This record gives sequence, C-alpha cells and structure tokens, in this order.
Amino acid sequence: MEKRLIYRSQPFGFDNSMLAGILLQARRNNPRDDISGALICRHDIYLQLIEGPADKIDALFARIEQDDRHTNVRLLLEEEAHERMFASWAMLDDEAPSIFWSVSDVDAGKIETASEDELLAPFVRLAEVHASDT
Ligand SMILES: Cc1cc2nc3c(=O)[nH]c(=O)nc-3n(C[C@H](O)[C@H](O)[C@H](O)COP(=O)(O)O)c2cc1C
Repeated sequence: MEKRLIYRSQPFGFDNSMLAGILLQARRNNPRDDISGALICRHDIYLQLIEGPADKIDALFARIEQDDRHTNVRLLLEEEAHERMFASWAMLDDEAPSIFWSVSDVDAGKIETASEDELLAPFVRLAEVHASDT
C-alpha cells in the first residue's frame, strides 16, 4: 500500500545551508526508498508532503521526527495514496510562495485547523506549476 502524509514543523535555525543539507539527504535517500514529495519552507515553517510505500514512509517520518534541525513536528494528514502527486520529484522544494498562510496565521494555529482540502491545496498548486518541468 502507498500512503501520503503531510506534516508541519518549525525550523530550528533556518538558513540556506541547512535547507541545502536537508534537500541533499532527501534527494539521495528518497529514490532509494521509492519516495517522492515536496517541501514548502519559510523561516517560520516547514510544510512537507511525502508519498510512497507505507513502510518506507513510516520509517522516514520516524527519522524526521527525531531530527533536531526542526521542532514541533506535527502530523496533519495521513491517507492512502492511489496516485502520486510528485511522481517525478525525489523532493521538490519551494520557498514560501505556495504557502497560503501568513506568518500570523501560522502563529495563530490556522494550519492545525485547516481542512484536508485546504492542506492539500498548496501542494496541488505546486504540482501544477511544475508539471511542465519534466
Ligand atoms: C524538514 C525536513 C525534511 C526532511 N526530509 C527528508 C526526506 O524527504 N528524506 C530523507 O531521507 N530525509 C529527510 N530529512 C532528514 C531526516 O530527518 C534524516 O536526517 C535523514 O533521513 C537521515 O539520512 P541518512 O541516513 O542518510 O543520514 C528531512 C529533515 C528535515 C528537518
């Protein structure tokens, strides 16, 4: 079974080299594990979608939860995935423009109360924007 999950977290000391390091690991490991996804980031938030074989996704999420480059990791959505949204990307990255929530929205906890469709929306848009890249 394939599954998809979305979580959010708070970067701990966000900077470009940290982000580059994370993306390097993701792009090395994810093809090995048949995982794809997208990471939306801003100084105040990581919002990541990962999709792939359920056991591999569970293992990755367990590693991510332990990672000290971010805090307050919160699982927001977990569902069976019948079709990949980011099939062509080991980890697509997007800095902020796709986030629908302002810094104060995030502070106010709006992401935690978002509906499933609202959570998926920025990723749907991101996948559309990059559909012609491959
Ligand atoms: C925001 C964030 C996103 C991450 N995404 C991935 C990912 O998609 N794939 C991955 O293998 N590791 C990802 N990591 C890194 C993992 O937490 C972990 O450090 C890494 O998988 C260990 O890889 P290694 O066994 O090659 O050292 C992410 C870390 C953070 C903080």
